[in-house]
Parts: sequence; structure tokens; C-alpha cells
Amino acid sequence: MSEQRSILITGGAGFIGSHVVRLFVNKYPNYRIINFDALTYAGNLENLSDIEDAENYYFEKGNILDPEELETVFSKYGINAVIHLAAESHVDRSILSPLDFVYTNVIGTVNLLNAAKQHWQDVAGKRFYHISTDEVYGSLGEEGYFTESTAYDPNSPYSASKASSDHFVRAYGETYHLPVIVTNCSNNYGPNHFPEKLIPLFINNIIEGKPLPVYGDGRYTRDWLYVKDHARAIDMVFHKGKDFETYNIGGFNEWQNIELVKLLCKLMDQKLGKPPGTSEQLITYVKDRPGHDRRYAIDATKIKDELGWQPSVTFEEGLAETIDWYLENTEWLKHVTSGAYQQYYQTQYHKEG
Ligand code: NAD
Ligand code: DAU
Repeated sequence: MSEQRSILITGGAGFIGSHVVRLFVNKYPNYRIINFDALTYAGNLENLSDIEDAENYYFEKGNILDPEELETVFSKYGINAVIHLAAESHVDRSILSPLDFVYTNVIGTVNLLNAAKQHWQDVAGKRFYHISTDEVYGSLGEEGYFTESTAYDPNSPYSASKASSDHFVRAYGETYHLPVIVTNCSNNYGPNHFPEKLIPLFINNIIEGKPLPVYGDGRYTRDWLYVKDHARAIDMVFHKGKDFETYNIGGFNEWQNIELVKLLCKLMDQKLGKPPGTSEQLITYVKDRPGHDRRYAIDATKIKDELGWQPSVTFEEGLAETIDWYLENTEWLKHVTSGAYQQYYQTQYHKEG
């Protein structure tokens, strides 16, 4: 492609988005990387302070719910590729306010598809890459894995909204020949993860000596992937993936929540110099999440065989690096857990009853 790549990355100030932005800005100095983000509670420019002055990096505060703002950014930068991560991403919040998820995840995605369709009369060299989740496949029993041909069966308002956005992306590929691509990834963890999700919430609560609220019997299973490995996978799919294809991305790393929490407690005790067993005493079983999916597990054979991607760090390495990051970035934690965060935790459903 002779034209300079101008890549719109939506949600680049969030958890995964900030790792993707950093990777692309550092690795591809000839690309223009435009981070388009509304800076909701989950978006934080502190996540990108190390690259904010890079010559190939541009930040545009904007909302995917506003078609005019999208039109402006597409025209201003001559956008010829999109990596779409902007979303409402937390399952518990989707249970409290489903409509927010319909607006951002469904309507916001359709607005973005419309902007690309409008601007890309010639689709040669263009790419619309939608970042999605394994939660669209629903819940697994004790055995088996999600593959790219597993039927969609979303159970939470969050996963229903992501499933809907995936369908719209696919439909724009079929109907308008927009060169789309989708990846469905398992649970990420790592630096800059907002402390509403299991691992960063529990790290923060251990630091503060607060209870660790384990939902239900704690035997729910997730497949954990280090966020930098997800960013590497996104880089690979963006450059080598085939139009109109879907790829599953996972960590080959299943953990029952309670086992993961116990490992985290053990590592935190070591890092904080506390006697073994100290943090485990904070574990508190609470009311279950409604519609809680029992098990997710990704079969990532396709991306491994076709594109040569696989995770580069073990869970033990990734988790140790993550804990170190939180212990070294207590100011970041303080900033993101002030104000509206406290309000959310007072009204959260599992604190009731
Ligand atoms: P996040 O909540 O940390 O970040 C979302 C970002 O999107 C924030 O910067 C926020 O400001 C921005 N945003 C929200 N609404 C917006 C709007 N209307 N307009 C513009 N920007 C808006 O999310 P994350 O965990 O980094 O997830 C990123 C994407 O990856 C999401 O699409 C999510 O569904 C998907 N995903 C996440 C995981 C995971 O484990 N976190 C796994 C698989 C897929
Ligand atoms: O699978 C990919 C998905 O992973 C992403 O699409 C979502 O954006 C991301 O938030 C994540 O969803 P989960 O619901 O799996 O993540 P969460 O960290 O909220 O919960 C992980 C597990 O831990 C889940 O079984 C619920 C449980 N849990 C969570 C919290 C916040 C608890 O037991 N206690 C808690 O306080």
C-alpha cells in the first residue's frame, strides 16, 4: 500500500486500547495513530503518558455515538484503517444499566461502520478490525472449547451487545463489502486494568485491606491472557489476517476464580512482606452475579496455525509483572478509584442483600 497508513484506534485510552496504541506508535513510526476516545470512567490518558509526545501519535477526544465527530476525524486524518476497541466493557455494569451498553457497543459500532463505508468508496488497502470477546459464545460445561464456528449464545447484557456488534460488522462485510475482520478474545489482565475487574480489584483491595468478594461458589472458570500478548495478536491479525475472517484469541490458561484468587493472595503476601495466609483471610463469598457464565475456554488453534501467534509469557510471569506494576503505580490507582468509582461500589448489586 503506497498511501500512508492512518489508523483510527477507538478506545485507545482504555485498558487494552492503551497497550495497542503504544505497540503501534513504537513499532510503526511511519503510521499515523489516531486515538479516538470519549474518556469515560474507564478511559485515562495517564495510560499513555510515555508516548503522548511521539510524532506519529494523535489524540482526539470524541464519542462514537456522535456521527459528526466521526465524520470530522475520518476527513481530518484520511483514515484508512480502524481498530475498534471503544466499548462499555464491564459485565456487572451491564446488569445495572443495559441501555448504556446498547448505545455504545451496538449503536456506536454501527456509527463507526457507517463512517468507514461512507469514506471508503475504494476499499483497496482498507481494513475495519473489530475487537470482540469470547463471551458472545455463552457458557461451556466442564469440557470443550470455543472455536470460531461455535454458535453465538450470549447471556449477559454486555455479551448480548458485543454479539450484536459482531453481527453488524459481519453484515457490513456481506452487504457493503466493507473489508472487516473480527477477533474474539478471552479475559485479559495486566497493567492499566481498571480496578472493577477481578484481578485489579482484588489487588487494590488487598493493598487497602478490604474484603475480596468472590461471587457464588468461586468455581467459575476463565481463560486468562496477558494484555501485551493480546496487543501482539491484534498487531498480527491487523497485518496478516484475512478479510471477512474471525479469529479466536486465548491464553491456553484456565483458572477457577477461587484458585486464581488464592494464588494472587500468596503472591501479594510475598510482595508485601506479609506472613503467608494474611491476604486469604480477606476472601469473602458474596451473592452470585446473575446469569453468571460457568466456564470460558478458547481454542486458539486457528490464529496459531494460520498466523503463528501464541502467548509469550506464562501466567506466573504475567501476574508477577502485573502485581509489580500496581505496587509501583499507587498514584494511578488513587486517581482511578476516586469520585464516581466509590459511588459505583456503593450501589453495586452484589453488596445488596
Ligand atoms: P475499557 O473499559 O478498559 O476501555 C474502554 C475504552 O473505550 C475507554 O477508554 C473509554 O473511554 C472508551 N469509550 C467508551 N465509550 C466510548 C464512546 N462512546 N466513544 C468513544 N470512546 C469510548 O475496555 P477494555 O477492557 O480495554 O476492552 C476494550 C475492548 O476489548 C472492548 O471492546 C471489549 O469488549 C474487548 N475485550 C475486552 C476483554 C477484557 O478482558 N478486558 C477481553 C476481550 C475483549
Ligand atoms: O472473557 C472476556 C471478558 O472478560 C471481556 O469481554 C470483558 O470485557 C471483561 O470484563 C471480562 O469479563 P468477566 O466477567 O469474565 O471479568 P470479571 O473480571 O468481571 O470477572 C472475572 C470472574 O471473576 C467472573 O467469573 C466473575 C468473578 N468475579 C468478578 C468480580 C469483579 C468475582 O468473583 N468477584 C468480583 O468482584
